[in-house]
Amino acid sequence: MTDDTLAVLSFLHEDLPRAGPGSEATTRAALAALPPLDARARVLDLGCGPGQQTLVLAAALPTPVIAVDVHQPFLDQLARAAAAAGLGARIECRCAAMETLDEAPASVDLVWCEGAAYIPGVERVLAQWRGWLKPGGHAVSSELVWLTATPPAEAAASLTAEYPAITDVAGTRARVAAAGLITVTDWTLPTSDWLQGYYRPLEARLPTLATRAAAWPALAETITEMEREIDLYRRHHDSFGYQMFIVRAP
Ligand SMILES: C[S@@+](CC[C@H](N)C(=O)[O-])C[C@H]1O[C@@H](n2cnc3c(N)ncnc32)[C@H](O)[C@@H]1O
Repeated sequence: MTDDTLAVLSFLHEDLPRAGPGSEATTRAALAALPPLDARARVLDLGCGPGQQTLVLAAALPTPVIAVDVHQPFLDQLARAAAAAGLGARIECRCAAMETLDEAPASVDLVWCEGAAYIPGVERVLAQWRGWLKPGGHAVSSELVWLTATPPAEAAASLTAEYPAITDVAGTRARVAAAGLITVTDWTLPTSDWLQGYYRPLEARLPTLATRAAAWPALAETITEMEREIDLYRRHHDSFGYQMFIVRAP
């Protein structure tokens, strides 16, 4: 990603609750599927973005959460929200690429990763998580998947350009198994996690950016792409979605 692309994406998402589909309810549902953790548990939230899910985790878990993202402005936003919610001491923000983390083998109780594993590559991070997780430790990750064997050509072209390794639910379960992990459960995120959770706040922001976009071609281009993406989702949401995977180490 170029610096200009990063700057555009950062500006576009400034002060939005999320940087991808999801919701507090979905994060809570995933937490409810896990066994309880003790106060010494090590918990990582990878690709945390503005950290809506980090705040839910920090409030619910008896242990601090290490929130990791490559984009410092998201971490700053999360730190401000954590302080405002009285959770500042329960979240440690770390600006790093998740694939460069040097966690000791079998030292992590819970890896959380909403909508970000595909960026370094799902197979790559699953292998890493398998090494980090304690026996019986869990990873929770939402992955973009095909929900049909025959996606419309327009959706197929758009999604594979963005995410060439995209597969379906069975394909993702197979990647989990190939990494030596066990799928405990998985489910499709509701459309409200895309629309209310992510696209509507973003859509509301787009018209306010017109003046800035007139002088910043990369921003204008990204706004057009974003409008296309939202339109594509509205028309083809039956054929692709995010699947929440709860997996565990043997
Ligand atoms: C689709 S957003 C998801 C953000 C957040 N989990 C959410 O659902 O709102 C992906 C996030 O991953 C971050 N990211 C991209 N590459 C990364 C990497 N290699 N390591 C850690 N974070 C990364 C981006 O800055 C962005 O915040």
